[in-house]
Amino acid sequence: WQRNHRHSPDERQRISHSEKCFTVHPRNKYNTSAPAFRKPMFVGDFCLDENRMFCHDKRNLHYININWQESKKVDFDLNIAMDKMIKKNFQETRKEKLDRLLQWILCDKFKFHTRDSEGKPLQCLSTDFVCFRGLLTELLCTPYESREGWIICATKYRGTIYLCAYETPEKLEQRENETEVQKKMCSWGYKFEHFMTEGTNVNEGINENEEYCCVVRSRLENHSLVYGAEVDGADPEKYKNPHSDLSAFVELKTSKELNTDRDLRSLYRFKLMKWWSQSYLVGIPRVVAGFRDMDGHDHWQDNIMLNFLNQFLSFVKKNVQKDDPRTVYKFERQKQGGDIYCTYLGQDPAWTFLPKWYYEKIFQ
Ligand code: A3P
Ligand code: MG
Ligand code: MG
Repeated sequence: WQRNHRHSPDERQRISHSEKCFTVHPRNKYNTSAPAFRKPMFVGDFCLDENRMFCHDKRNLHYININWQESKKVDFDLNIAMDKMIKKNFQETRKEKLDRLLQWILCDKFKFHTRDSEGKPLQCLSTDFVCFRGLLTELLCTPYESREGWIICATKYRGTIYLCAYETPEKLEQRENETEVQKKMCSWGYKFEHFMTEGTNVNEGINENEEYCCVVRSRLENHSLVYGAEVDGADPEKYKNPHSDLSAFVELKTSKELNTDRDLRSLYRFKLMKWWSQSYLVGIPRVVAGFRDMDGHDHWQDNIMLNFLNQFLSFVKKNVQKDDPRTVYKFERQKQGGDIYCTYLGQDPAWTFLPKWYYEKIFQ
């Protein structure tokens, strides 16, 4: 199989010199009717424990305690037990790449029908893309993001394109220079989750490494997608096991107090767009925000975002031709909101992200 797919040196040369561009602007070119997005269906779940080890269970699934009838003024002190928080180490977590999701795929590979009716191994997952939800959120928001760039790497293996996000040098720098206030704001987000979760003692610290993740299957026009997503919790009134979609799940958010018109505009323009994207992609219908209730307003159009994502995924499919687990293509958007460039990186060990333990075992 591999022999058939190996490129001749000439061909490799040709690809390695091509750099292809996908334009973001003018974003109105994406202002056509929204592409079909199939309801995301639940296919499985897993957890990361306090050491970010993969656990094939639901140990970190929490129930969210909320009265849905009204929004109410709450008096949560998000600084409680701050000294007992165990922070997530981004230096470490960025090295995880797709590993946790790939571990889940290996465990649950029968869900991809990787064997035929006689039990013989098949050679594919029958899905176009595998990635984490956060990468799709970032792509959806790209038409409206004019400051931050991104890097996404792609590897095709047995017909499936695996997408992996990398931090840009600018984001790395921001993270390294994070102020104490920024760090605190991040911890407040987790503490809010703690307050909203059933059966917790808020005087105890929390470990930010613990996660519960769902894996969903969906389709955007002719792109079939499987992606993992960390979800905050489920509404115990609605949650039934087994469940076919994520409608019982709830996303929790915090936002700084809205003191000025500028705060308000920024919430509408940027934050709500991100919150909507993140939840829409997994079919989570409800976001609970820790701040005063406000009316919504259209600063961004979901059809533009979905058309952009759809056409970008087609661009990825067109460019990622070589089917080889070690070969990487890089898609990069520079900061200041420019266009997207595709570069062929080949089998560069600094960039390959599909681990051997995955590609050697998945079709066995
Ligand atoms: P907020 O949601 O209140 O902003 P999520 O909302 O995605 O479930 O994430 C929970 C919290 O994790 C966030 O709280 C935020 O504090 C923190 N967080 C999420 N993504 C982050 C990132 N990329 N970098 C730093 N902190 C992040
Ligand atoms: Mg979360
Ligand atoms: Mg949240």
